[in-house]
Amino acid sequence: MFTRAAYTTATRAAFRAPTFAQARNASTQAANGAFGADRKAAAAWFAKAAAGSAILGYGISNYVVTDDRLAPVTKAVAESMTALQKKAAEYGIEMPFTVAHAFSTADHGLHPPHYPWDHFKPWKTYDHASIRRGFQVYKEVCSACHSMEYIHYRNLVGVSHTESEAKELAAEYEYEDGPNDKGEMFMRPGKLTDPMPSPYPNEEAARAANGGAYPPDLSCIARARHGEEDYIFALLLGYCDPPAGVNVREGLHYNPYFPGGAIAMARAIYDEVVEYEDGTPNNASQLAKDVSTFLSWASYPEHDERKKMGLKTLAISAMLLGLSVWWKRFKWSYIKTRKIVYKPGKFDEV
Ligand code: HEC
Repeated sequence: MFTRAAYTTATRAAFRAPTFAQARNASTQAANGAFGADRKAAAAWFAKAAAGSAILGYGISNYVVTDDRLAPVTKAVAESMTALQKKAAEYGIEMPFTVAHAFSTADHGLHPPHYPWDHFKPWKTYDHASIRRGFQVYKEVCSACHSMEYIHYRNLVGVSHTESEAKELAAEYEYEDGPNDKGEMFMRPGKLTDPMPSPYPNEEAARAANGGAYPPDLSCIARARHGEEDYIFALLLGYCDPPAGVNVREGLHYNPYFPGGAIAMARAIYDEVVEYEDGTPNNASQLAKDVSTFLSWASYPEHDERKKMGLKTLAISAMLLGLSVWWKRFKWSYIKTRKIVYKPGKFDEV
């Protein structure tokens, strides 16, 4: 029987806007429709397209755009880029691209192996006895050619030496100071605030004494080289005869770890060149290890403190994380446990 209620339901059903789910299905179908009637057909379409373009790409790269055919094109492009760069440079404009150069592994140096340094472990400090021995190696061997102008005697206090030891070390050298009340410069024994003495008065003198090569300042050398202490250790012990066919210029020495292979520094570390006061065996690898540790400390003097702060931060954050999980549950508890009831209004009851 045609009742008023049945009429209302029927018209409502006919004119009701599509639900969200219906709308979504419709748009999915429309999107799929372009590639196939359903999901399966669309997936098959994509699989065929991928396989087809892979085979086509392989064919084109192997038989059409061959290296031989490409070479003149890349050469022409590279030449015009270089010309453009040069022209732009004439007008003082710097181009955002640089010209690539071919390189070989020898140009970049042999990659040093990774050694198991104690201080690489996340919870370990530097081996301070090793820093102390390394300083002795630096002082007795390396300081003949290398300066360390950013390391002062005061930096050694509490790290490798006591205050009185550091004062004694500083007083071994004379430093220029002044002017005094007559306006003259004078010499005085070193103090804790003085830097390590430089072997040469300036870079030119250093180059003149080393066949034109400049022995770099070692204060930050670990930071300044790829491989850091691994590199320094490998470099110090890496000297060997050049392989057949490699000619090393007079005054240079073959070392595969040095970029280019020929270094102006002669081998400096040999067995027993330094006598350790603590009785540690003084073979070449021990000396190299100690001086590398010392140079690493010089580059990262904050290392021990940083690790300690890191561990503290982790411990405190772990505690705070636990607290905040508890706090969140506490704050959200009444939202999570409340009951929402829908109470129909008057209109819906028609
Ligand atoms: C006889 C002088 C002399 C002594 C001693 C010496 N060096 Fe050198 N060192 C040089 C010269 C010169 C260079 C620059 C080499 C070059 O550029 O070809 C150099 C370069 C270096 C480099 C940089 C290499 C690079 O990648 O650029 C390091 C690191 C180094 N020396 C460490 C040491 C250590 C550590 C000692 C002590 C065990 C030491 N040197 C002893 C002369 C010396």
